[in-house]
Amino acid sequence: MADLHDILLLPNGVKIKNRFFKAAMSEGMADEHNKPTKKLVRLYETWAESEAGIVVTGNVMVDKRALGEPRNVVVENEKDLDLLKSWANAGTKNGTHLWMQINHPGKQVFKGIVKEAVAPSKVEFEPKLQRYFPIARELQEEEIFDIIQRFANTAKIAKKAGFTGVQLHGAHGYLISQFLSPRHNKRTDQWGGSLENRMRFLLEIYKTVRKEVGDSFPIGVKLNSADFMKAGFTEDEALQVIETLDQLGIDLIEVSGGSYESPQMTGVNVKESSKKREAYFLEFASEAKKVSTAPLVVTGGFRTLNGMKEAILEGSTSMVGLARPMAVYPFLPKELLQGKRETIELAPRKTGIKLVDQTAMLELTWYSNQLERIGKDKPTNPELSPKVALIQSLWKNGLDVFQMRRV
Ligand SMILES: Cc1cc2nc3c(=O)[nH]c(=O)nc-3n(C[C@H](O)[C@H](O)[C@H](O)COP(=O)(O)O)c2cc1C
Repeated sequence: MADLHDILLLPNGVKIKNRFFKAAMSEGMADEHNKPTKKLVRLYETWAESEAGIVVTGNVMVDKRALGEPRNVVVENEKDLDLLKSWANAGTKNGTHLWMQINHPGKQVFKGIVKEAVAPSKVEFEPKLQRYFPIARELQEEEIFDIIQRFANTAKIAKKAGFTGVQLHGAHGYLISQFLSPRHNKRTDQWGGSLENRMRFLLEIYKTVRKEVGDSFPIGVKLNSADFMKAGFTEDEALQVIETLDQLGIDLIEVSGGSYESPQMTGVNVKESSKKREAYFLEFASEAKKVSTAPLVVTGGFRTLNGMKEAILEGSTSMVGLARPMAVYPFLPKELLQGKRETIELAPRKTGIKLVDQTAMLELTWYSNQLERIGKDKPTNPELSPKVALIQSLWKNGLDVFQMRRV
């Protein structure tokens, strides 16, 4: 029976020092040319002191033309290799694994940031959400092959820079998750229709990345347990994808759920029965364990030491994924392991301004503000007023902040 401080052995033989997994949080800390900055390096140096076994970066884009936020890091060539090396060097101190999360946002790209949006098919979001995004056009097959190659290229550069693994972002409604979803993928060629065809894009990315980085370099994936939308990707389908990835030798699968349309990943709309188990996707993970031997990470909702211990002990997850708690308590795994903290209180963030509170923007702005503080060597501020976080963000980013933020 495992405990939080136990080593985890990945299928490829790589050892992870314990069961804490700092999940991806988009930092918005690249410069205006989408290069890593000193602040970003400092943030990861701090997390490398947290005792987390694996730290995953915020999503790094594989194509500069497909940005989710103006300040995402983009890695499409070796121009910034030295900067990437300092990032990797800082984040891998103390035997910490630093994995780069790589992503293509597909049609979840905000108006004004990109020239056009692309997607598996020309399917619009509901009007309330669509107004934030350009209407996407359908990808040509040669563009699909190009994007697959881009994932492999970014992974190759990450490895060369010293990152110790990569995570493919297959969750939260971005391009891979758009291909998986029958609601968003209406293609009639080999990339759409049956589940076998819808998962082809993810599998081809995995296989191409694997060919590029070799067997000993860990590749993980973040997957939705479901997208929680009518006619969307279901839990049964997610289980089949997990089984297939396991057979192909994936090293780690992180389970999350939802998208901008239905943001379950942050606890919205989560069933009461799931909340009783603290982390939102534990029930699903127990099912996934039955069809796959790949180590799993459940992310979303973990807030107590007991909840984390229990989940590891009963075996429904191999690692505990933590995102928002690590933005406020950057040394959390160490504090939990040393018995200095047992619960994490994170109240929902509301300003009282309806326009602001209705979108996910404020919640994310508040956490981004904490990341910014860590990057500037300032202590985090759990008491930070949501209104002050908003004003500071407006000061830094102008009215861009009123666009909904990515998760
Ligand atoms: C500010 C912020 C940025 C995020 N950016 C990403 C991201 O780039 N990639 C990703 O997979 N998830 C992202 N997430 C989602 C988290 O990884 C995680 O799935 C979610 O916050 C639930 O976990 P928690 O309850 O521990 O926060 C983000 C969350 C926050 C709060």
